[in-house]
Amino acid sequence: MATIFSVSNQKGGVGKTTTAVNIAAFCSIQGIKTLLIDLDPQGNATSGIGVDRNNLESSTYEVLFSEIPIKEAILNTEYKNLFILGANSHLAAAEIELIDKDEREFVLGKLLNEIKNDFELIIIDCPPSLGLLTINALSASQKLIIPLQCEYYALEGLGQLLNTFKLVEEKLNPNIEIGGVVLTMADFRTNLTQQVIEEVKNYFGVKTFQTVVPRSVKISEAPSFGKPAIVYETQSRASKAYLEVGREFMERFGLHKQIEKQTEEQNSEKQIPEAGQAPAETTPAEPIAREPVAESESVNQ
Ligand SMILES: Nc1ncnc2c1ncn2[C@@H]1O[C@H](COP(=O)(O)OP(=O)(O)OP(=O)(O)O)[C@@H](O)[C@H]1O
Ligand SMILES: [Mg+2]
Repeated sequence: MATIFSVSNQKGGVGKTTTAVNIAAFCSIQGIKTLLIDLDPQGNATSGIGVDRNNLESSTYEVLFSEIPIKEAILNTEYKNLFILGANSHLAAAEIELIDKDEREFVLGKLLNEIKNDFELIIIDCPPSLGLLTINALSASQKLIIPLQCEYYALEGLGQLLNTFKLVEEKLNPNIEIGGVVLTMADFRTNLTQQVIEEVKNYFGVKTFQTVVPRSVKISEAPSFGKPAIVYETQSRASKAYLEVGREFMERFGLHKQIEKQTEEQNSEKQIPEAGQAPAETTPAEPIAREPVAESESVNQ
């Protein structure tokens, strides 16, 4: 059964979609059957994974309003284990239309109950607001991932998100917890960045991901090619950092064990040859090359 993660911060442009898309892509490439849900009318996670948001026959909006069964709206992507429930501007109406729905905070959660056995991981990319769409995401999730941009006002406004999180935990979903905080768009040339990192680590402790993602032009180019940065190019410091974030994510939430278990099961199946057959060769899952993140690399790469 899938663990459900919401990637949320009501502040705009802090790296929610970039983080959601790259973690989803990384885990799926590693063999985890992953569903990425775009819950933002901007549809950036949808286009960022190479799906044309303007030509979606069925999107999150139609699913939320029961026009299409969720199973029919989930699309394949060009990555074998990665699936998407896409969004586009239709979803903009949902914030208002959800108000009149019965149990309006649980609409998404109920739908996800229908499919969560079909996946190992579900990641919801939230819009930059704390309205009903985000409340639906948090009500449906076990973990909240908070991307924070490394800037002077990084922690400003966080109180609102944490209050919403607490309310959801108290009133709607006692099973949710803060899964982690990912620091994004760091410029290591400034002292301020170090101060922000310290401040966030003091506040969130071990919940803070060890890997801090630097600012890089390459990352901002990737969405226009419909590719996650970790696929678009692997050499910039920021893409390498997102590979590390993906690895950390899998380790933090035990997904690497799932892969090890699957590999062991596959190997042991292969090691029991049928009568009269030679044992098959075992081929362990190929890891993505682990390379150190070079400190000296320019932020423009
Ligand atoms: N590490 C980075 N370096 C440079 N640009 C980045 C980095 N991470 C994200 N970006 C760019 O910054 C912009 C905002 O990122 P992103 O869309 O991930 O943020 P968001 O929080 O999802 O935004 P929104 O609130 O609008 O949904 C995008 O153009 C993205 O390509
Ligand atoms: Mg976004």
